[in-house]
Amino acid sequence: MLHVKDVAITFNEGTPDEKKALQGINLELHEGEFVTVIGSNGAGKSTLMNTISGNLVPDVGEVIISGKNVTMLPEFKRSAFIGRVFQDPMAGTAPSMTIEENLAMAYSRIRKRKLKPGVTKQRKAEFKEHLSTLNLGLEDRLNAKVGLLSGGERQALSLLMATFTNPNILLLDEHTAALDPARAELITNLTKKVVDEYGLTTLMVTHNMQQALDLGNRLIMMDKGQIILDIKGEKKQELTIEDLLKEFQRIRGEQFESDRAVLG
Ligand SMILES: Nc1ncnc2c1ncn2[C@@H]1O[C@H](COP(=O)(O)OP(=O)(O)O)[C@@H](O)[C@H]1O
Ligand SMILES: [Mg+2]
Repeated sequence: MLHVKDVAITFNEGTPDEKKALQGINLELHEGEFVTVIGSNGAGKSTLMNTISGNLVPDVGEVIISGKNVTMLPEFKRSAFIGRVFQDPMAGTAPSMTIEENLAMAYSRIRKRKLKPGVTKQRKAEFKEHLSTLNLGLEDRLNAKVGLLSGGERQALSLLMATFTNPNILLLDEHTAALDPARAELITNLTKKVVDEYGLTTLMVTHNMQQALDLGNRLIMMDKGQIILDIKGEKKQELTIEDLLKEFQRIRGEQFESDRAVLG
């Protein structure tokens, strides 16, 4: 389904600000896998998402989706088969457009033909049906401007827009981090439901370790641009927060030892 092959990205190469954001990343996702991604700030999580979405072209390596090498395919051409939700509720929707217009825009992503202006009755009914699954009453507010919605409502709409076209891959980048705990839980539950319902192949970045353990069937931990832990299936079910913290400490310890060796 998704194969990230030997991918490396360095920002500002050859300058004092040089940053190896990704180093030799290899990741293979099978259809229907739901992977949670954790790692400290600057570990390269968002850079990995951007490489998969086509927002960034890797310096080295390839991105293969459903057997097709898409490494050089621009982001807008990948949007037909990649759904994405960002941390910022403002990022995924157009505030000056109505709920219906936003959904029509998302729908047009998967269509070759240009969408006729206006929304047909049938499409309107479909939109209402999708919206009603959110249980937020948005199905009765099709003509409301999205800028008037709360952060949680907007994030729910973003999630719907990213998924109702049944993309090959769903990328979630800390998409609950900007919400208060109640809204975050709502969006987490919706995520579970949507991913289950459509059987979406999903990569979800989260800074919440408990969430990373509770959701999905595979967990990866990143550090310094590398994947340092990759745990699947039953082993993931047995995994605890203490295990993850130990792993963090182990890496930091090794790093400390190697820094000390270098410094003498
Ligand atoms: N466009 C960019 N230009 C320069 N440096 C960047 C850019 N994007 C990310 N970085 C750097 O690359 C590293 C990885 O960033 P990122 O992938 O955003 O980390 P994460 O999402 O895990 O917090 C960080 O050190 C960050 O500062
Ligand atoms: Mg990030």
